[in-house]
Amino acid sequence: MTKKAIVKLVNTVKCYEKGGNAVVKGISLDIKKGEFLTILGPSGCGKTTTLRMIAGFEQLTSGDIYIDDENVSHKAPYERSVNTVFQNYALFPHMNVFDNVAFGLTMKKISRTEIKERVMEMLKVVRLEGYENRMPSQLSGGQKQRVAIARAIINNPKVLLLDEPLGALDLKLRKQMQLELKHLQKKLGITFIYVTHDQEEALTMSDRIAVMNEGKIEQIASPEEIYEKPKTKFVADFIGETNLIEAMVSSIGEKNALLELEAGTKIKVDNSGLNIGEKVCIAVRPERLKIKYSPDKDDEWLSGKLKERIYVGSALKTVIELNSGGEVVINEVAGDRFDFNRCNDQVFVTWKPDSAVVVRA
Ligand SMILES: Nc1ncnc2c1ncn2[C@@H]1O[C@H](COP(=O)(O)OP(=O)(O)OP(=O)(O)O)[C@@H](O)[C@H]1O
Ligand SMILES: [Mg+2]
Repeated sequence: MTKKAIVKLVNTVKCYEKGGNAVVKGISLDIKKGEFLTILGPSGCGKTTTLRMIAGFEQLTSGDIYIDDENVSHKAPYERSVNTVFQNYALFPHMNVFDNVAFGLTMKKISRTEIKERVMEMLKVVRLEGYENRMPSQLSGGQKQRVAIARAIINNPKVLLLDEPLGALDLKLRKQMQLELKHLQKKLGITFIYVTHDQEEALTMSDRIAVMNEGKIEQIASPEEIYEKPKTKFVADFIGETNLIEAMVSSIGEKNALLELEAGTKIKVDNSGLNIGEKVCIAVRPERLKIKYSPDKDDEWLSGKLKERIYVGSALKTVIELNSGGEVVINEVAGDRFDFNRCNDQVFVTWKPDSAVVVRA
């Protein structure tokens, strides 16, 4: 099912200083109607800048932004049907919960009865019924953030922009709010563009994730694809734990390619447009690796020395020093463990060919 793009970024560039370096370097992006899209990336990569350009708080240096097929690049924030929720709630401290949520409607001169009806309904949606007379100072962080969200949603925006809206909450509340927000988004059918630097949050909530690095989008795909099939070294490394092993493409077949590692070992991978002689990395998740005394027939493998085993509750982590140089980390879950524990044992690290992804720099 292909849905129409409700927000479209075309080659958007932002330089804060004239003639200075761009902090957003030509981003193009289609956000579909009703989609939960997350922009994920490390601090300073340009996430907030991108969001502020969509909202109209920052002028584009070049490029265009469309909302519902209309070019809004030069329109003021209030002329765009988007609303923004920031990290630090930004509630009006002198107004109670009711008036905070009602604010956008009061400005539009809607009748008092309708306002009351809609505010009460909104408070129900964010599960804050009975809180309408409280002042912001009498609310917890999570409650304040729910008021901020209710206040943004009551205006029926086509698109809601959220910049690290859960950043100030403690871990437990944050996890709870992640699920609540996701349910709310699906229920109301509003398009969410959500910014975070927390990869777990992005994986939990999003329909698609755009991974951003130094002003560019490195990959945009579903959480599963981002995790299982990262396209670049940066994406593989930024999302979850991963082992990156350097290799060179030594031969290419129709379906597979052979990679040669430093030590002369050859491993087989999917051939996805590789060139002979190209230097690449293979990325394998720690939970996809197994430790064995001898590899099975259809295993890919590397040999190494068992260096340490660390119990981390949900998993047993093992570090293997590869004979070809470098180290890999393996996570084993209960019931699926290599039953040896002698450091310095010579072992094989094995995986199935489809567990390894070739990534480029
Ligand atoms: N008003 C401004 N004037 C000049 N430079 C700015 C301005 N705002 C942001 N920058 C710079 O632009 C770059 C991107 O900033 P931005 O706030 O978009 O990053 P971010 O990805 O949101 O980071 P964080 O995760 O820390 O919020 C940074 O190098 C920042 O210093
Ligand atoms: Mg930011």
